[in-house]
Amino acid sequence: MKDRKTTHFGYREVPVEEKASRVAEVFHSVASRYDLMNDLMSGGVHRLWKRFTIELSGARPGQTILDIAGGTGDLTARFSRIVGAEGQVVLADINESMLKVGRDRLLDRGIAGNVVPVQADAQYLPFPDNTFDCITIAFGLRNVTDKDLALRSMLRVLKPGGRLLVLEFSKPQSKLLEKVYDQYSFRLLPTMGRLIAGDAESYRYLAESIRMHPDQEALLGMMREAGFVDCEYHNMTGGIVALHKGLKP
Ligand SMILES: C[S@@+](CC[C@H](N)C(=O)[O-])C[C@H]1O[C@@H](n2cnc3c(N)ncnc32)[C@H](O)[C@@H]1O
Repeated sequence: MKDRKTTHFGYREVPVEEKASRVAEVFHSVASRYDLMNDLMSGGVHRLWKRFTIELSGARPGQTILDIAGGTGDLTARFSRIVGAEGQVVLADINESMLKVGRDRLLDRGIAGNVVPVQADAQYLPFPDNTFDCITIAFGLRNVTDKDLALRSMLRVLKPGGRLLVLEFSKPQSKLLEKVYDQYSFRLLPTMGRLIAGDAESYRYLAESIRMHPDQEALLGMMREAGFVDCEYHNMTGGIVALHKGLKP
């Protein structure tokens, strides 16, 4: 039998070419309840993680920013206010359901003038070289099939000196926290997912995909390998989440 390349989808091994469609099912399913679930699951703390991401971005009026895997547009909304009428924010996501919720939400809040929604895959960004001052990917890289390819693609479209910020779940820094967090993610999350989003499986995938994602040091190494310089990371909430930063030389 011919060898088929596989990758992980949560704890399951699936053929590489199947992962994207499985991830798509997850986000089609949860899109309408995504924001509510985020607030409930994190007790609102995801807003602080995102605020720190904006602070570290150094975004300024007039800049061009890419929020890839931007989903319902939390970071995009904040960037839109910062870059102002002279700047532009591209809200990009592979999933049209998430993008639609994001677009509607931005319009409802009167934020849209300088935002361009684009359906795009982080691995094959459809933008010219050296386009963006800053790229963010928040809770998105974990879902991408070939993370190295995505990092190289982001490097290509960044301007020299531009920065990439990767906000992602990571490895808790204490054994005790890890234990509590495991109980929470594998017992409570799927139940909350079932009750609120009508979908336990997607939230089980969330817990599993977090455990399969490269930890702080591994991701740092991947960013350096892709060609980013001055790479560093900041743990938040005891390492449950980490913000990685790298520059394009
Ligand atoms: C957990 S959501 C994060 C949304 C938003 N960034 C936030 O922080 O709230 C992950 C997003 O990644 C998107 N995504 C998954 N794979 C992707 C890919 N290969 N390229 C672009 N977006 C992708 C999903 O469609 C989903 O909207």
